[in-house]
Amino acid sequence: MLLDIDLQNYWMPFTANRAFKQAPRMIASADGIFLYDPEGRQIMDGSSGLFCVPAGHCRPEIADAVNTQLRTLDYTSPFQFSHPGGFRLAEKIAELTPSGLDRIFFANSGSESVDTALKIALAYHRANGQPSRYRIVSRELAYHGVNFGGLSVGGMVKNREGFGSLLPGVVHMRHTQTVKNSFTRGQAETGADLADDLQRAVDMYGAESIAAVVVEPVVGSVGILVPPQGYLQRLREIADRHGILLIFDEVITGFGRTGQPFAAQTFDVVPDIITMAKALTNGSMPMGAVATQQYIYDTITGAAPEGSIEFFHGYTYSAHPVATAAALATLDIFENDGLYERAAELTKPFQDAVYDLQSLPLVTDIRSFGLLAGIDLLQADRFGERGFAALRALFEAGLLVRVTNDTVILAPPFVATAQQLEQMIDIVRDVIVKL
Ligand SMILES: Cc1ncc(COP(=O)(O)O)c(C=O)c1O
Repeated sequence: MLLDIDLQNYWMPFTANRAFKQAPRMIASADGIFLYDPEGRQIMDGSSGLFCVPAGHCRPEIADAVNTQLRTLDYTSPFQFSHPGGFRLAEKIAELTPSGLDRIFFANSGSESVDTALKIALAYHRANGQPSRYRIVSRELAYHGVNFGGLSVGGMVKNREGFGSLLPGVVHMRHTQTVKNSFTRGQAETGADLADDLQRAVDMYGAESIAAVVVEPVVGSVGILVPPQGYLQRLREIADRHGILLIFDEVITGFGRTGQPFAAQTFDVVPDIITMAKALTNGSMPMGAVATQQYIYDTITGAAPEGSIEFFHGYTYSAHPVATAAALATLDIFENDGLYERAAELTKPFQDAVYDLQSLPLVTDIRSFGLLAGIDLLQADRFGERGFAALRALFEAGLLVRVTNDTVILAPPFVATAQQLEQMIDIVRDVIVKL
């Protein structure tokens, strides 16, 4: 290790701190789809960081926009004041979201976006004369961030246990992963009926107590769970029937991962609320956002007296000028470089290469949609042990991936070539064979 630094003080997030500090995996610089360690060793970014960097690292357009913004307006209060960039960005996002989802609230992360969305859902029903609707229906194995709202609707046991009773009134539907559908490429033909769990929640608790149902259109962090054919449509129908808001958490799927700006468009299901973050700034600045149907905004704002604050929520850094500049530059890149189309084009070669791994004895399932893939490895003695071994070995072999438990997750940048995607998957094969 060339760097002479003390590793003790930084308490790292979602990291085996003690193991890391004995054998650090440090990144010092990046360019395009490559990362470099402090000694200059090249590592391919197989997961776009944490699903954040589809346009490739260190884009000069974003750096220039951030630099200019920092010299023009570094900060201004977003409460009762604003700056032009926030409005420009909201307009730009509204052009990309499905029609009607054109009122945009800004946050600073996916977790904050999810908590904001849940609060908007409750505020909507209150403003609409139905304050009894407080329950949120979500799903097992979901990941909606780590703040108390997102944790409560999340479904990953390690994240939840130890944090008390969480939010009251959350009902979890079953997840959609079934052994029968192992190795399905894209959407499984069976399983849409699992959406009837929403109807069961209605039958159990009464529609008049349910505010919203929140799902990731494709479950990301837990290992890429793809909705069965017709599942999301069925959720939409049941939600409509009972006046329940449908929230899509698109923190991972937003901005092209499924070949269209939002997965809502890919699956042709229009939710009432969409959360987004990550790729919104190509990972360069912390920023999240919530898009809502106009009628939600109109109902909430219309219920408050003229001249008064309508929604008691917001962050010191909502629509931060510098993050806003980074996001505007990012969305220009996506458009000018045709990155949504490129993601769609790369999907087939990517998935062809990924499904080539299914013959390996250690691979127990592969799921994939768009430029996302989850590769399950046979569990070793301890749950998660083989996954962690894979993460370390892949890094040594020159590929950075996301690992959850024993699942290797790939989410390559859209600027990678088909040949580079094959190289990434060749590295995965070589490493798995030796595990
Ligand atoms: C679907 C989803 N929602 C929310 C979050 C939380 O985002 P953040 O880590 O930016 O708070 C994530 C993070 O991976 C996510 O995948």
